[in-house]
Amino acid sequence: MCGIVGYVTGGTACGKPLEVCLQGLGRLEYRGYDSSGVALSAPGMEKVSFRKKEGRLENLIDDIAVHPMPLATAGIGHTRWATNGAPSDINAHPHMSGNEKVAVIHNGIIENAPQLKQQLIDEGYTFESSTDTEIAAKLLGKVAEEIIAQTGEPDIFEALRRVARQLEGTFTLLATDCRQPHVVVGARHDSPLVVGLGDDENFLGSDVAAFVAYTTEALELGQDEAVEITPDTVKVTDFDGNPVELRPFTVDWDASAVEKGGWDSFMNKEIHEQPQAVADTLLGRFNLDGDLNLDEVRIDEEVFRSIDKIIVIACGTAAYAGMVAKYAIEHWVRIPVEVELAHEFRYRDPILNSRTLVIAISQSGETMDTLMALRHAREQGSRVLAICNTQGSTIPRESDAVLYTHAGPEIAVASTKAFVAQIIAAYLIGLYLAQVKGAMYRDEIRDIVDDLRAMPAKIQRVLDTQAEAVESAAQAMVDAQSFLFLGRHVGYPVAMEGALKLKEIAYTFTEGFAAGELKHGPIALVDSGEPVVVIVPPARGRNVLHSKVLSAIEEVRARGAYTIAVAEEGDEDVREYADIVFWRPQCPTLMSPLVDVIPLQLLAMDMAKLKGLDIDKPRNLAKSVTVE
Ligand code: F6R
Repeated sequence: MCGIVGYVTGGTACGKPLEVCLQGLGRLEYRGYDSSGVALSAPGMEKVSFRKKEGRLENLIDDIAVHPMPLATAGIGHTRWATNGAPSDINAHPHMSGNEKVAVIHNGIIENAPQLKQQLIDEGYTFESSTDTEIAAKLLGKVAEEIIAQTGEPDIFEALRRVARQLEGTFTLLATDCRQPHVVVGARHDSPLVVGLGDDENFLGSDVAAFVAYTTEALELGQDEAVEITPDTVKVTDFDGNPVELRPFTVDWDASAVEKGGWDSFMNKEIHEQPQAVADTLLGRFNLDGDLNLDEVRIDEEVFRSIDKIIVIACGTAAYAGMVAKYAIEHWVRIPVEVELAHEFRYRDPILNSRTLVIAISQSGETMDTLMALRHAREQGSRVLAICNTQGSTIPRESDAVLYTHAGPEIAVASTKAFVAQIIAAYLIGLYLAQVKGAMYRDEIRDIVDDLRAMPAKIQRVLDTQAEAVESAAQAMVDAQSFLFLGRHVGYPVAMEGALKLKEIAYTFTEGFAAGELKHGPIALVDSGEPVVVIVPPARGRNVLHSKVLSAIEEVRARGAYTIAVAEEGDEDVREYADIVFWRPQCPTLMSPLVDVIPLQLLAMDMAKLKGLDIDKPRNLAKSVTVE
């Protein structure tokens, strides 16, 4: 959802606040891209200076180039994914207090906005936008004036805390008041905000990408906390003004990780970073004897031993990674694993207890549905272990423990490298459980670990050898109205992930099915020329599913489908069934999702390219979904 950046510097007014805001917004644009804006304060200003524009960030940058903004000491910037009020110049953030001395930006939804608005209208306030943020801005302006009337001094930090106490819903709010030009304040409730620590300057951001070009030293902010940054101080309190403990951390990647680095899109770059993402996620998780060592997951071995059921909660791609892990963990540990979409889990009455391990998978660590589901699980007495890619984010902080995927920042809206890294992390948890529960022999676990360690090179091989075949399939099928994806066993979640990628970025109607389900309905959709992508399980080891999946290909082909198979090198039987084959190296079945998904990601990307679509920023989507 929306991206937020805040900055304050010491000394006299300069161009850096605007520079930091625009650079930060460039890095956060993946969070929302239907409008953007900045507000600046400097000593001597009568009103906050602000500019906002509908559309991509370039529109704002172009506008500022033509009508320059003043030098400043503090700035806030916002890139929007509309939740409340359509995208337009007027609805873009910042929003201003009645006297324009205070500017506010916001991520989230203020649920009691209608009541607050009515009270303000009764007091004579008028509104120009249809956003809930403008209501917060008018309210903040009003409270700021009340404080000045009471004490004779402006205190935007106290004003923001008073406002935060009145708001219901989800929000991160940042504000600047031109009467306090060396201060930026923020408050968060169920929405992300992190602090970047500089030298004679400090930063705020929805995530560390906002300021990682300037500093890698950061502070987490907790739920219902407010922050005031000045050039040389950072104060964090609860909404009542009580100081809270500071939680510093160092960001373990640098600014180059959030640059395209010569690739034509972030998605392309991230697809090609998958060998590294897998290798890095495995790194450091074994002791010298080769045993799995997950000390970082601060849950006692004793507790792990007592686990008798796992529930994975996640959304979208992360949920498909969880589905893949279900096959592996049930096979290895012999305990039931349920995978549930977080938004469904949250609103039912799941059966859990202290022996249930809930695994919350989230790339961003901010997905509201997953966050709410994990709170629901903890309320029922279960331990929650997060698999997350983003340090300083909310889901790991609210979980009992976290296993980080080390995929590096994922900027493209369509998730790719996070998916493979999530599978690896979930597999590590499964193998660790098998180790502490004695569910497998040490040697068996080591063999699987060796298989995992071989995967980066196998992913690389797919990337090196299959690009051309994928491109020609994309060219052949670019005008298709719809696609079907079929798979069985671990190929089933991969089929759904492939379908999700294609719908997300190429806007092609697609569905992923379990191949066995075909004859129960979906085959009715197959018509002449319909592209059907089939994940073929390995034939080796007399895998009965292999022939069953080939029969499914045969069935759709008999009805005129254009068949695209993803199959293992050496599986010559596939050739006669498929119009086109994407080959991937041999590996054990449970490892195959890590290579099968690669050509499907490339296919979606190539189709989007051929259609001239924005690969990294598909319409209507945002990278982290911080509203329900
Ligand atoms: C698909 C995609 C989404 C996310 C989902 C969960 O490409 O990116 O389906 O996987 O919104 O996001 P996280 O993992 O950040 O919780």
